[in-house]
Amino acid sequence: MASYLRTGIRRNAKTWVTVLPAGKTVEMVSGTRLVDAVLLTGAELPRRCGGHARCGVCHVMVLHGGRGLSKARKDERERIAQIGGEQSQSRLSCQAVLGRHEVTIELVNH
Ligand code: FES
Repeated sequence: MASYLRTGIRRNAKTWVTVLPAGKTVEMVSGTRLVDAVLLTGAELPRRCGGHARCGVCHVMVLHGGRGLSKARKDERERIAQIGGEQSQSRLSCQAVLGRHEVTIELVNH
């Protein structure tokens, strides 16, 4: 039986995340957070607020596959606007949940 997060993303499907500038790709399970993929590549990614959309240091640019991620909630959109992120491509990796589509991101605070 399929299980769903409140984001509506089906869990247990596989997807791939490529993290630039290192260019490393990791296989992930749908329903996990984007930040977990970044950390799995071995990249350094500070999370000062503990993943609560308050600090913005986990900000990434989504270069490909953004439509496959969960929708940004109001607190994430507000934080991105405060840090001057590009609204159409910016995500807080602690908030974005992976779907079934491959994603390519670039670290901003690298
Ligand atoms: S860890 Fe603070 S906003 Fe993501």
